[in-house]
Amino acid sequence: PTNRTFTMIKPDAVADGFSGPIIQQIEAAGFKIIAIKKVHLSKEEAGKFYAIHAERPFYQSLCDYMSSGAIIPMVLEKDNAVEDFRKLIGSTNPEQAAEGTIRKQFARSLESNAIHGSDSDENAAIEAAFFFSEKELA
Ligand code: CMP
Repeated sequence: PTNRTFTMIKPDAVADGFSGPIIQQIEAAGFKIIAIKKVHLSKEEAGKFYAIHAERPFYQSLCDYMSSGAIIPMVLEKDNAVEDFRKLIGSTNPEQAAEGTIRKQFARSLESNAIHGSDSDENAAIEAAFFFSEKELA
């Protein structure tokens, strides 16, 4: 079925000037951009987005990192979007990511890993609604 996923180009990749090449690869892989914006989260907003990780040892550092600069959230559409997008971006740790994946090419480290991809249809909808209005997602 045609469906959607949510992604963000993270502060390291935006600062490194990789937004263009990353978006180009996303479109070349068959994803259609439904919504896109540039935003700089506060630490509190980053903490809210990653609330599911609140008990993890890396949570504070993750919130500092995700509020350290601009990010580019997007909603993408494609058949089998969630699963296919996670294949396109590769493993969380860029050192373990497959050749040709976005994280392998553009990420700096396990934390500064260039891009986010939702892990389920349900989370994709929740994460999209964090950044975009209903009207923006129509
Ligand atoms: P992502 O999987 O998109 O969402 C959670 C983020 O937390 C992850 O990307 C990394 O940016 C970060 N992260 C995950 N695991 C670790 C870790 N062990 N140490 C530091 N950061 C991590």
